[in-house]
Amino acid sequence: AAEKLRLKTRIKQLLHEKKAVLVAHYYVDAELQDLAEETGGCVSDSLEMARFGRDHAAQTLIVAGVKFMGETAKILSPEKTILMPDLDATCSLDLGCPSDEFAAFCDAHPDRTVVVYANTSAAVKARADWMVTSSIGLDIVAHLHAQGKKILWAPDKHLGGYIQQKTGADMLLWQGSCLVHDEFKGVELDLLKAEYPHAKILVHPESPAAVVALADMVGSTSQMIHAAMTMDAQEFIVATDNGILHKMQMAAPDKRFIVAPTAGNSATCKSCAHCPWMAMNGLANLLYALETGSGEIIVDPSVGKKAKLCIDRMLDFAA
Ligand code: 13P
Ligand code: SF4
Repeated sequence: AAEKLRLKTRIKQLLHEKKAVLVAHYYVDAELQDLAEETGGCVSDSLEMARFGRDHAAQTLIVAGVKFMGETAKILSPEKTILMPDLDATCSLDLGCPSDEFAAFCDAHPDRTVVVYANTSAAVKARADWMVTSSIGLDIVAHLHAQGKKILWAPDKHLGGYIQQKTGADMLLWQGSCLVHDEFKGVELDLLKAEYPHAKILVHPESPAAVVALADMVGSTSQMIHAAMTMDAQEFIVATDNGILHKMQMAAPDKRFIVAPTAGNSATCKSCAHCPWMAMNGLANLLYALETGSGEIIVDPSVGKKAKLCIDRMLDFAA
């Protein structure tokens, strides 16, 4: 505990001295989320992280999350220095969508509007017409569908399938998935629901269709927290990374939150309900990045310039 306090104090000092700001995702360690809030940074979903980083005056951003979040911050603000505690913190969706294969997929379907999820590399975004996050993907695809557009979607097949089903849009789906959400199972969730008949089920749309089908609410991490606060229930079953429980419990202290069941259990399944890459962010490597300037995100400026167009489109749509 004394060591943690020392690390936190030093991080606060350096953030102040270097006029840097900490931007964290809800899936990282609770103490990093708290630090971000205490020091005037933000803890939020991917859309808000992007917007906050873009709009904040700080010249240095420390992004506690995964690589695509750091890259998005860099693409939006190429003049800023973006540091991450561990540059190896990636995402199974990003890994499962290599830019050369993706480019070939796009080349094979030139008649389609290319919509990619935020969880992709800068090079994949550079090839896209639109980037979306889970909080706004449905609205953007509905908008494109209303204009008669056919969609090429990548990489998350579950989120893409959910949006397709809700909007009726013509969507060609890349077959990627999130290794955390892919573990949630409909059958087990149904059994758990029987044990807690009054519980409401909150689901992140990266989850499989059988899980989404049982949801009382589907949305981004920020939207799930908002639902936990505002929905009229005392118990909730939550199908997303368990890092979210910290904020949820703080936002609704009298309510009870239960993580949705996964195929394995926490002893045998490393990625069950917690992202191994989000877990790479800690106090020690955050401090190291601040002290040494290591973990800097670099995006090729020409790739970044192209990628920025699809992110700006989303942010303009969201405004
Ligand atoms: P959101 O916070 O935008 O819902 O994204 C979830 C996620 O998978 C981030 O890795
Ligand atoms: Fe990627 Fe899933 Fe981890 Fe989010 S939780 S960063 S989607 S692997």
